[in-house]
Amino acid sequence: MPQFIPLLSESEINKQVKKIAEKISNDYKTEDLVLIGVLKGAFIFLSDLTRQITIDHEIDLIGASSYEGTSSTGQIVFTKQPDLELENRDILLVEDIVDTGNTLLKIIEFLKLLNPRSIKICSLIDKHERREVQINVEYSCFSLDKGFIVGYGLDYNEKYRNLPAIYDLKP
Ligand code: IMP
Ligand code: MG
Repeated sequence: MPQFIPLLSESEINKQVKKIAEKISNDYKTEDLVLIGVLKGAFIFLSDLTRQITIDHEIDLIGASSYEGTSSTGQIVFTKQPDLELENRDILLVEDIVDTGNTLLKIIEFLKLLNPRSIKICSLIDKHERREVQINVEYSCFSLDKGFIVGYGLDYNEKYRNLPAIYDLKP
């Protein structure tokens, strides 16, 4: 039986999301902000973050999938592309967790072809131990050294996204 060890409570998460949203609202002075959520893991974080950001912005989604179980397959498959016009826009990519960094690197390479004004990253969790590429996570709510976590959108084989808090999963 897998063990779920509580890591971040609902109120800890809410507090940090609010803080990051405030920072984003202060930092972006243009009226061209587009949040692009990375499916599927970011859907809950994105929905909380957007409601805490106080400046006008638009929302889009990009689908990228790289994981089976707890280890990367090394392959990134695009399952959805953004619909909005992104030329000269300020893109803020919203991710659940940055691990090796390979998923975001591929997404950024793809988005650059659309000539946005800027691309920055906002990740709920910045996980350090297995980073393989140099990625600058401008906004992150929590830092994590290692481990595999679930809940608040994060899954293990598509399950446990619905848990309102975040747990360390011990197989
Ligand atoms: P990366 O390409 O290695 O950075 O992988 C990023 C993606 O892997 C995230 O968007 C998650 O979907 C998934 N992932 C990485 N670590 C975890 C974890 O601890 N729990 C759940 N999903 C994870
Ligand atoms: Mg993901």
